[in-house]
Amino acid sequence: MKKILVTRKLLRSNEDKLKSLYDVKLNLNDELYSQDKLIELSKGCDGILSALTDKLDDQTISKLPESIKILSNFAVGFGNIDLEAAKKRNIAVTNTPEVLTDATAEIGILLILGACRRAAEGIEGAKASNWKWSADYLIGKQLTGTRLGILGMGRIGQKIAKIARSLGMIIHYHNRSKLNDEKENGAIYHEKLDSLLSVSDVLSVCCPASKETINLINKEALEKLPQGAVVTNVARGDIVDDEALIDALDRRKVYAVGLDVYKGEPNLNPGYTKHKSAFILPHLGSATKETRTAMANLAIDNMTEFFETGGCKNKVN
Ligand code: DGY
Repeated sequence: MKKILVTRKLLRSNEDKLKSLYDVKLNLNDELYSQDKLIELSKGCDGILSALTDKLDDQTISKLPESIKILSNFAVGFGNIDLEAAKKRNIAVTNTPEVLTDATAEIGILLILGACRRAAEGIEGAKASNWKWSADYLIGKQLTGTRLGILGMGRIGQKIAKIARSLGMIIHYHNRSKLNDEKENGAIYHEKLDSLLSVSDVLSVCCPASKETINLINKEALEKLPQGAVVTNVARGDIVDDEALIDALDRRKVYAVGLDVYKGEPNLNPGYTKHKSAFILPHLGSATKETRTAMANLAIDNMTEFFETGGCKNKVN
């Protein structure tokens, strides 16, 4: 029986499935393992079921025991893993696409609504019972007829586009390549990021974090947005230059932000936590029971496919 290290606590049904298939080292207290502890615990294991909170950088991967053959990441994003380092060590890396598209797109829409309709200020006022209805109280931005710029039109971007279209938004997107007509579904393609930014009344960041996208939304990019645009990010914090975005909020160049992901999670730049126009969530993208169950099942199936066949359809390196 193969031996597996599971770095984070999973839902009960997923842990039961793992126990029926593998000799597993579970993390019942959901301790956040240091890199050294992760290396230590992986001794004698054939694979690791990792999470986005595990920093599997070059140094860590180079110290993993020879027996480790797969890092099955419990996420669609894999920016926490150095793919090249894993490849050098002949370790397969897999992810969990598709199963979290709907849940993450729902949060993407919540960020747009929350930021545009001033939900953070509204919640604060309602909880403090210090609000007074008036014709101009917390007037926000209506989505109907507003242009939504989607940066990264993969599965999540397409689902956000579908829901946003039903809310009356006009969809524009920038992607490495233009989608076919069916996937595009009337959305307007921008080959250049600058061109997308110039029409994005609301920007939704949906692209993966990679060497090419780190700090892509920086000072120069933010200046290209229409005055008073809204910026939302449901992908990865690394894509946004926080200082630049907070400065743009302070100057009212950006009207509001809706964020679910951050650089250096769980620590947020304090500029966001104190800003009244920041609608912020703690990385809830895939956080529904159905989705987390399906993600962990897929992470387990990825391992099984790999051990049985030597390959995996969700291998990313
Ligand atoms: C992912 O899978 O990359 C999501 O961000 C998890 O919530």
